[in-house]
Amino acid sequence: MATSKKTIVVVGGTGILGSSVARSLHDNPDFHVRVTTRDPLSAKAARLTDCGIEVVKADSWNIDELTKALSGCWGLFLNIDSDAPNFKQQIGPSELDMGRLILHTAAAVGIKHVVHASLPAATKLTQGRVPMVNWDDKAAISEYALKNKQFSTATILSAGWFLENSFDPKYAASFGGFAMIKDDDGFYTWKTPPMGNDPESVPFLAVADDYGDFVHGVFLNPQKWDRKYVHGVSESLSFTDMTAAFQRATGLRARYQKLGTGQSLMAGNELKTKEVNGLFDVMHAVQGRFFNGEVTEPRHAKELKAAVSLVRRGKTSTTPMTAEQFFRKYSPGNPSAKL
Ligand SMILES: NC(=O)c1ccc[n+]([C@@H]2O[C@H](COP(=O)([O-])OP(=O)(O)OC[C@H]3O[C@@H](n4cnc5c(N)ncnc54)[C@H](OP(=O)(O)O)[C@@H]3O)[C@@H](O)[C@H]2O)c1
Repeated sequence: MATSKKTIVVVGGTGILGSSVARSLHDNPDFHVRVTTRDPLSAKAARLTDCGIEVVKADSWNIDELTKALSGCWGLFLNIDSDAPNFKQQIGPSELDMGRLILHTAAAVGIKHVVHASLPAATKLTQGRVPMVNWDDKAAISEYALKNKQFSTATILSAGWFLENSFDPKYAASFGGFAMIKDDDGFYTWKTPPMGNDPESVPFLAVADDYGDFVHGVFLNPQKWDRKYVHGVSESLSFTDMTAAFQRATGLRARYQKLGTGQSLMAGNELKTKEVNGLFDVMHAVQGRFFNGEVTEPRHAKELKAAVSLVRRGKTSTTPMTAEQFFRKYSPGNPSAKL
């Protein structure tokens, strides 16, 4: 490794969001990427090491491992998985505790630039009506990063609605089957309440193809994005238009069916059911303004993507991915599908 490279540590880097970040940054010869994991021998860790990405063992509760992994780094990308059972069940220390520990360690070892994958402050936005512990904790971690003067720059990069959820059984089952299970009429049906804005606009995110580039773009010019809340969106669409994009891409019949007032979603377990219904309750309270109550601003994502496309020439596109492009690329059964 050339010593002039800036090392960026990616916490959560074996996951969906983090691996997108690690892969994008790895294509930049100015950066060295270090991913932390609890198990460097896992299959998901091996997929990164096979690409030449450094993967080190660091449980985010272990201060010694964290200190070693974060030492010598210039930047930190931080994503914490709210689905960890203890966080969901509120047993033991919280996601906020983990976030504080990581950020405290980052400041102590002299990391200067931080990007956090955040979510809206549900309790604050809904005046206490819809508390969502994982969203509230992420928002509080963001506040902690933004207020820490030891970081020269701190940026929030809030991830929109993962298009990848369409092929994740736990979400497909909750949202009517789309895009994995056909209904009795032979449709892949997206069945949820509306988003809560008019005209409807849902900020969909193609995580693998775009999110890492957005974060990469921030690290190209961290001062420019300092203390900003960046909207991680690939394409905003109504649920009807999103299912139409799937139909155009795959030739399979798809549709949106709106759930009415009083009809709720059912997920695989009680906590997930609470989460998916809470998501819509918060969205209705803020009229669909997913990014912490702000109207979605696609300009930043476009600008970040364009900047990174100049670095990752031939490996990424100049504009964020459309939903149709996503389904064309990833829908199982499509000849070029990659999921
Ligand atoms: N689904 C959506 O539409 C959506 C939208 C916006 C935001 N989000 C948020 O995205 C987050 C999930 O991100 P993701 O999908 O990227 O998660 P993921 O794929 O499940 O990855 C989780 C990551 O966390 C790491 N991790 C977990 N516990 C750890 C520990 N104790 N120490 C160190 N690392 C640990 C895992 O590493 P190892 O297993 O390798 O140790 C892995 O890299 C959730 O919090 C969710 O709220 C989701």
